[in-house]
Amino acid sequence: MELRVEVGQLSQWQGDGIVVTVFQNEGLSGAGAGVDRALKGEILRALDSKEFSARYTLHYAFYTLGALPAARVAVVGLGKREKFKLDRVRRAAADGAKDLRKLGAKHIALGITNDGLDLADAAQAIAEGVVMGLFRFQKYYTDAADPLWEDDFRSEIESVTILVDDAAQLETVRAAVERGRILGEANNFARTLANEPSNHLTPLHLAEHARDIAAKNDLEFYVIDRDKAQEMGMGAFLGVAQGSQNPPAMIVMRYWGDKENQDKAIGIIGKGITFDSGGISIKPADGMENMKGDMSGGAATIAAMQAIAQLKPKINVTGIVAAAENMPSGSAFKPGDILRAMNGMTIEVNNTDAEGRLVLADAVAYASKELKLNPILDAATLTGAVVVALGVYRAGVFTNDDELADTLYEIGEKTGEKNWQMPMDDEYLLALRSDWADLRNSGGRAGGSITGAWFIRSFVEKGTKWAHLDIAGAVNLGEGKERGYINKWGNGTPTRTFVEFVLQMANGKTNLF
Ligand code: BES
Ligand code: MN
Ligand code: ZN
Repeated sequence: MELRVEVGQLSQWQGDGIVVTVFQNEGLSGAGAGVDRALKGEILRALDSKEFSARYTLHYAFYTLGALPAARVAVVGLGKREKFKLDRVRRAAADGAKDLRKLGAKHIALGITNDGLDLADAAQAIAEGVVMGLFRFQKYYTDAADPLWEDDFRSEIESVTILVDDAAQLETVRAAVERGRILGEANNFARTLANEPSNHLTPLHLAEHARDIAAKNDLEFYVIDRDKAQEMGMGAFLGVAQGSQNPPAMIVMRYWGDKENQDKAIGIIGKGITFDSGGISIKPADGMENMKGDMSGGAATIAAMQAIAQLKPKINVTGIVAAAENMPSGSAFKPGDILRAMNGMTIEVNNTDAEGRLVLADAVAYASKELKLNPILDAATLTGAVVVALGVYRAGVFTNDDELADTLYEIGEKTGEKNWQMPMDDEYLLALRSDWADLRNSGGRAGGSITGAWFIRSFVEKGTKWAHLDIAGAVNLGEGKERGYINKWGNGTPTRTFVEFVLQMANGKTNLF
């Protein structure tokens, strides 16, 4: 799909469809008023008669039958002006574009509604919204199924034009739209990886995808394979992987945007369990298919590294994905087994289904101790408990640094990938006391997402600022519904949070080195 920025008016724009946005309880102004005049007041009539209330999330579309140069119009409600914010721009753009696609449009245009918002931010949000909103994963659909599904309709949008009022805005808006495209496409890449089933996406395949991204974007790249991990003493990571025929891969991607300060680098780390059966502590059958998405944190890490390489901030970033498959077998690790992580700490495995924290233990130890990355962010579909606590609308943030928590909160409000800080009082750690080893890997049901976070935190080197995002709910593996640009399965979070954090560290808005 092509994204263009041009000077022009929606009412004059010739193509398959345009998107008009409307505030609730207000008439039409600007672009909307021009379009409505050509439609002989049809939009206003629908508003006045309350057929369309313009409440946030409501939208409709119709054919213009020659009244306008554009053949279709989508009208999208923005809700009340007081509640207008960046994420509504993102969602409105997605809803409008999707409505027009449903009516068969291939070339569409949108204006920029930025009421009180920065023009560049709004333009970027529109680009992110359409790119993410139009995402579909249809790789495994074939024409052979055509006779089966009579209602199937797979038309695609080919170009999206964003119109600006005057030529003086072109440069700013073009740069912002390009940023939005980079972020939206990176996010969609994370979704694609999450959607890929585990027979097509093993740890080594994931590593190949990362290698490909690294080669195309000039990133340093290496993989710590099973032998190397053994040599390095990554016993927690290897314990999880040992039941699978598919070997693990600790994937490392390094971006050097500030070569003079190589001692300073941000770490972003993702859980990359390509399938989580639970292992010997096996999961119930219902919903187990969703566990192909248990590498979503890793997918966001790889995707964020792509976007960072393309945006080129003056800062150093290392992405690490702990990729493995958690399977029951004759060679699998078992409850009661004791593992030794690379920092020397021993772990009693009391539940093989608490595998994410095990692979992350070695990843954060490697990142903080060997590579000296600081600050470190990790993202993981770590616990069912965080889904119970926060549902699908916010990721849980667990950190040893309150400023990091505040920063992630602010970033979430801006990107729409919303976060919420969870407590990490010392007492919660007590659940991880083992009779046989330094720690056990499961603290049971009570406060499950907090004890999971404490486990990871125990492997972070002293003095390292660290935050963990538990995205088991927020990433939407089967729990949530489609809403605007957020698709209903594997939505790619927290790709944009990672990138925004890196950009803010690079431009000095945040300083956590
Ligand atoms: N990958 C799961 C968590 C998960 C659940 C992600 C639902 C997405 C949706 C994780 O590895 C897991 O199994 N966690 C256990 C931990 C427990 C054994 C301490 C859980 O949450 O039950
Ligand atoms: Mn598990
Ligand atoms: Zn898991």
